[in-house]
Amino acid sequence: MSIDHPTFAIPAAFPAELTAPGVANGAVIEAGTVVDLPEGTMRRVTYRDLDVLIVHTPAGILAVDDRCPHMSAPLSIGSLEGCVVQCPLHEGRFDLCSGEVVQMPTTGGLDADGEYHPTWSPAGKDPKVDPPGKKAEARRLTRVRRFRYYPVHLVEGRIEVTVPRQDG
Ligand code: FES
Repeated sequence: MSIDHPTFAIPAAFPAELTAPGVANGAVIEAGTVVDLPEGTMRRVTYRDLDVLIVHTPAGILAVDDRCPHMSAPLSIGSLEGCVVQCPLHEGRFDLCSGEVVQMPTTGGLDADGEYHPTWSPAGKDPKVDPPGKKAEARRLTRVRRFRYYPVHLVEGRIEVTVPRQDG
């Protein structure tokens, strides 16, 4: 039986400087098929202790850590709109295609360049009150990091992702 490969699916371009370290001589892992990952969907693929988020955006398919750049929540159970994924925890929103923050987390904190952003609340909700003591300090000092991207290749409808080797 022949398999119908959606030929329109392509790996998405991403900022080269945000390529994950260790992929130059990395391991190639299978991440399912394009058919099972229609545009607008995402899923987690695990290789040893590395959880990878595979996303089919309007710009193509890409792979990043399945960890929010804020406090590591699994983005695979967040929501996806176009290239933008929303974290299931503190409402941080991130553009997977550019690597940029669209909306800082409700808890505030440092952006990738070290600039401080205060806590905030969605429209219609009471402003968030910072908790006292160490918790406020921890929020304030938590940095929202940039994504690290894993190269994606499509081979006859299969999705392959290159990740750092974990040979011990
Ligand atoms: S863990 Fe994702 S926004 Fe906080």
